[in-house]
Amino acid sequence: MNIPVSVEVIEVGMRDGLQMESDFVDTATKIKLINGLMDAGVRHIEATSFVSPRAVPQLADAAEVLAGATRPAGSRFAVLAPNLKGVERAIAAKADEIVVFLSSSESHNQKNLNRSIDRSLEDISAIAQHVEGVDIKKKGAIACAFGCPFEGDVELATLTRIVGHFHSLGFRALTLGDTTGMATPVLVSRSVSALRDAFPDMKLTLHFHNTRGIGLVNVVAGLNAGIDSYESSIGGLGGCPFAPGASGNICTEDLVYLLNEMGIHTGIDLDKLIGVANHMESVLGRTLPGQVMKAGPRLRLHGYEDAACAMG
Ligand code: COA
Ligand code: ZN
Repeated sequence: MNIPVSVEVIEVGMRDGLQMESDFVDTATKIKLINGLMDAGVRHIEATSFVSPRAVPQLADAAEVLAGATRPAGSRFAVLAPNLKGVERAIAAKADEIVVFLSSSESHNQKNLNRSIDRSLEDISAIAQHVEGVDIKKKGAIACAFGCPFEGDVELATLTRIVGHFHSLGFRALTLGDTTGMATPVLVSRSVSALRDAFPDMKLTLHFHNTRGIGLVNVVAGLNAGIDSYESSIGGLGGCPFAPGASGNICTEDLVYLLNEMGIHTGIDLDKLIGVANHMESVLGRTLPGQVMKAGPRLRLHGYEDAACAMG
């Protein structure tokens, strides 16, 4: 067991979460939510995406969001970019990091990016060349890394080929995305150990969805494998509009609660985080899947006299 002593929690609710919401959340509200997350101690955030506004109208205000949000010292504002055009927009908007993505299944890549995996790999080569010498971090992301809703299991050889492509282009950070919650602890340990053996200097981040209720179980499998970087969404929002059955990411407050209880440092204030989750709930006008935001941490006790009693 080499469980990490501290973990980087990357908040993706403003991107993976909001991209599923059909009612437009206005830019000022998005900025307020981001500022609340920063005030809670979140330092790594995927703040928006520079994809086609026709594909994801909710994030059409990406540049305005980046320009308006408070960015504390030491924070990293990442953005998703699907192609060269997105990367150019991200650079112009002064993102700290671009996350360049594709799917490890042909059919999901086709639905999500309207191209084959090989064509995406070519685009990624062009992007790597474009950002050479530009002061911006680059990270890769692989959607459907633990299974595809159209094709089922993803071969380890396919994952290894894609990670190898990123590696050959100088990427040293990569997210394995479980877009529709198909990961299991067994798959997590298997994929992580194979990729780490093949690319020991590639920093891996795990991105789970709680579609089948085992998102945090997969985190524990990742922790046992020594992974110290996880993506999650405030309130458990999230999902991919181009993958059937996609539901919320693992919830940030629930993740931070778990890590706190395991004695793993995150630098995030759980009470303030719950405040932001409540704010998100009121913005969206519906109950979010997060659980700790409802129950509170385990030692937030209840008044004895206030509770109902079964005795006559
Ligand atoms: N930002 C803004 N506009 C963009 C863009 C970007 N990153 N990429 C393309 N466009 C515009 C083009 O300028 C073009 O506009 P026009 O018709 O006014 O000339 C139009 O979109 C079509 O461009 P094209 O290159 O043919 O793209 P496409 O229709 O094949 O779509 C993507 C490809 C990648 C742009 C689109 O599928 C996409 O944005 N996918 C992202 C999906 C996503 O966010 N999924 C969730 C995350 S997992
Ligand atoms: Zn996701």
